Parts: sequence; structure tokens; C-alpha cells
Amino acid sequence: MTYQTILVETHERVGLIRLNRPQALNAINRQLTEELLSALDGFDKDAGIGCIVITGSEKAFAAGADIKEMQAQEFATMYAGDWFGNWERMAAVRTPVIAAVSGFALGGGCELAMMCDFILAADTAKFGQPEIKLGVMPGMGGSQRLTKLVGRSKAMEMCLTGRMMDAQEAERAGLVSRIVPATELVDEALKTAATIAAMSLPAAMMVKEAVNRADQVPLSEGLRFERRLFHSMFALEDQKEGMAAFVEKRKADFKHR
Ligand code: HXC
Repeated sequence: MTYQTILVETHERVGLIRLNRPQALNAINRQLTEELLSALDGFDKDAGIGCIVITGSEKAFAAGADIKEMQAQEFATMYAGDWFGNWERMAAVRTPVIAAVSGFALGGGCELAMMCDFILAADTAKFGQPEIKLGVMPGMGGSQRLTKLVGRSKAMEMCLTGRMMDAQEAERAGLVSRIVPATELVDEALKTAATIAAMSLPAAMMVKEAVNRADQVPLSEGLRFERRLFHSMFALEDQKEGMAAFVEKRKADFKHR
């Protein structure tokens, strides 16, 4: 499939999606949304792909939803068209997804990064929810996911003032998993993704499902869910292979990859 707003590459078992609207700092318009969701779905259905990376340019991961496209909208068209509702399709992606963020990740850009399973940040990354400066508020999960990731106080301050946080603050706050030099960001994300893609795919998917469950259910239910998944893994050949490889002091060669 040919896309106009994203670039799609495959690096062995890793799918790489680069947001590519440089003239608008990768602002997320409807076309980019559809293309990105379609590329994610394609990789997710491809048994040859074990991890996906989403990145932007050096200057911007994405500077938000496309303000020029939204500007003239009315309540009726927004509501009836359920704008941004299609991002729920991202929750259906079972393959692990890494956001590799360099430069601006603002508004919908920050929200897109938070929809990924974890965020690797370049030392140049800047995160923010500046919607309030436009007279609106986050609409792709910012008020919810940011609060879960960094806590109420910082999320409230970020969403009420619209200020940006740099990569160091984002790491301290738990928004990003780690910081790498900007020049190494994509290589490091691909390396991390390749590590994940070399694992048993069902095991990786179950990890993703279990960690995501922590956001949805009380601890007692989450613990039970985790334990049941853990038990079920003993039906996988990959459990036999992984444990045998450890005992035999060799590298595991998982079948279900
Ligand atoms: C449309 C955008 C854009 C956006 C930047 N551009 N952000 N176009 N939507 N979100 C365009 C600019 O209009 C400009 O186009 C070009 O990209 C370069 O941007 P500059 O502003 O000239 O660059 P710079 O001076 O370096 O400033 C970078 C910036 C600034 C600080 C990131 O662009 C900025 O503040 N952007 C808006 C950030 C924002 O408010 N995001 C939240 C959007 S609302 P021209 O044609 O002039 O060269 C949102 C809602 C989410 O995300 C809720 C549901 C999704």
C-alpha cells in the first residue's frame, strides 16, 4: 500500500512507521490517522513482525492534531463524526509498539506517544498538552493517560498551563522509559524492538495484555489475570524451549516468533 503521510519500513522482524508531514511538524490530520492505523493493523496481522516502532522527525514526533483541519469544525460534526474515536483501534493492536520521540510531542502527538506501549525519548524531546492555549482540552486520552503515567498533580499542571516538559523531567516523572542521544534514537528503538521481536510472540503479547490490565481492574483481579496467563504459558512450546535453553546454557530459539 502507498501512503502519503507516513513512511513504512521493515527491519527483519521489526516494523518501522515514520510520521511524515514535515511541512506541518507531523500534525495529525485525518489522512495521517487513517494511514497510521492501517499500517499498524497491517503489521499487527503480519506474523513476521514481532514489534513496531513509531517515530517522527528529528524536530517533531508530532506537534498535535492538525489545528488547521479542526479550526472550522462545529460541535455537531465533531460529535456525529466521533472525531478521534477511531484511535480506539490502536488498543486492538496486540504486537508491542514503541514510540521513539525526538523533538515536539504536543497535544495529540503526546497522546499518540502515550498510546504506545512505552516511550523512548531523545534528549531533545519535549512533551506537552497545550490544548488549553487553543481554548480546548486533550481529546485523544491526554487527561487520562498522562494522569495515570505521571500522577494527578503534574498532569493537572501540564493540562491547565500547557507548559512543555523536557526529556529529563519526563523520565523523572515516569512518562518515558529512558532517554537516548537524539542521533541514536531510531537505531536504539530498532535495537530494543529487535530484542522484543526475538522473544516468544505469544509471551510478549501476554505481557502487554497483563500490563495494560493494570490500568483497568483492581489489583486483586489483575493479579489473578496475570497468574492465569502465567499458567497458560506452560502449554506453549516456547516455555519448554526457554527453560531448556537456560538449563543447557544456550540461547533460546523460540518457535512462535
Ligand atoms: C497544524 C501545525 C501544527 C498543528 C505546527 N504546525 N503545529 N499545523 N496543526 N498542531 C505548522 C505551523 O503552522 C507551521 O506551518 C509549521 O507547522 C511549522 O511550525 P512553526 O510554528 O513555524 O514552528 P516553530 O516556530 O518551530 O514552533 C513549533 C511549535 C509550534 C512550538 C511546535 O508549531 C506550535 O506551538 N504548534 C502547535 C502545538 C499545539 O498547540 N498542539 C496541540 C494541537 S491541538 P506554516 O504553514 O505556518 O509554515 C491537539 C488536540 C488534541 O492536539 C485533542 C485531540 C486530538
